[in-house]
Amino acid sequence: MKGLILSGGKGTRLRPITYTNAKQLIPVANKPILFYGIEAIVAAGITDIGIIVGETRDEIIEACGDGSKFGAKFTFIDQPDPLGLAHAVLTAEEFLKDDKFIMYLGDNLIVEGVSRFVEEFEKNAPHCQILLEHVKHPSHFGVAELENGRVVRLVEKPKEPKSDLALVGVYLFDKNIFDAARSIKPSFRNELEITDAIQYLMDKGFTVNPHTITGWWKDTGNVEDLLEANRLVLDSLKPRCDGTVDSKSEIVGKVVLEAGCEIRNSVVRGPAIIGRNVKIVDSYIGSFTSINFDTEIIGSEIEHSVVLANCRLENVGVRIEDSLIGRDVRIGRSDAKPKALRFVLGDNSEVGLI
Ligand code: G1P
Repeated sequence: MKGLILSGGKGTRLRPITYTNAKQLIPVANKPILFYGIEAIVAAGITDIGIIVGETRDEIIEACGDGSKFGAKFTFIDQPDPLGLAHAVLTAEEFLKDDKFIMYLGDNLIVEGVSRFVEEFEKNAPHCQILLEHVKHPSHFGVAELENGRVVRLVEKPKEPKSDLALVGVYLFDKNIFDAARSIKPSFRNELEITDAIQYLMDKGFTVNPHTITGWWKDTGNVEDLLEANRLVLDSLKPRCDGTVDSKSEIVGKVVLEAGCEIRNSVVRGPAIIGRNVKIVDSYIGSFTSINFDTEIIGSEIEHSVVLANCRLENVGVRIEDSLIGRDVRIGRSDAKPKALRFVLGDNSEVGLI
């Protein structure tokens, strides 16, 4: 089997972070979302992987390399225009040839991995296998209608969903998907929808098996969602200490301290991850917080938040909560007169004052 990971798209929904960062590279528990998908596919025994790239191709290629660091071989495939998921499958036809494959949308994260679904697909050998999860807002997704455990209909972003079962962004296909993708027409959003291609397979009598899961997350576009992904993953991490903790500090619960980080006169309450070469001094890091590499937190308190690389938070004075802080951000106090708040914020930034 081969793997196909879709990593095009702009990520307009996670601005401002995605102005400077491909959405698939936003870290969750200090690791780019995309890497969870890659690792899951490799863990399922699939190492020949095509990665579809678009506008952010250079960034994705630089982060992924040739695949050797994941024990895989990557082939990057350009999809210059984002014309839909079924179009992406056709773009990769030459790479996939007649092989069965797993297609994984690079902005999706499945905590339990994909090995079980791949095994099931190989054992039962349907023409296609889809993954489903019950969701709160099915109209944001492709939605499946089941009867007696069998899929009877799939609709992309229905206004009035007939069920709360959303299509998770992981699909297993055999070569019949290519003809299906060639046979469908663009949708209301002018894309060739993979949902319609799978419906086409069902209409032609091919077998499409469903598998319902829990523990799925995808970028549905806001900070709360990203913090939820962070919570999901932090909860599943094994505690580890590769950094240094002085005698005045306290580490409570499930905490990962990555290489070279330093905790001085501080409390870190897990689940939390403190990244490479991070310095935490005279501070409190609360549950469900990820601090990415080279960041410094001095005399400050932060909880239930994600801080990206190379930031400096100093003597902030009030606790920071529920926040997503991009790379190279500085938050601190100044003695400058007049006493005032001074901001340099990118487009679409949000600041909550108390
Ligand atoms: C795509 C699919 C949709 C699926 C979702 C999962 O939506 O079209 O059926 O539920 O991925 O991530 P999109 O992200 O293009 O809106």
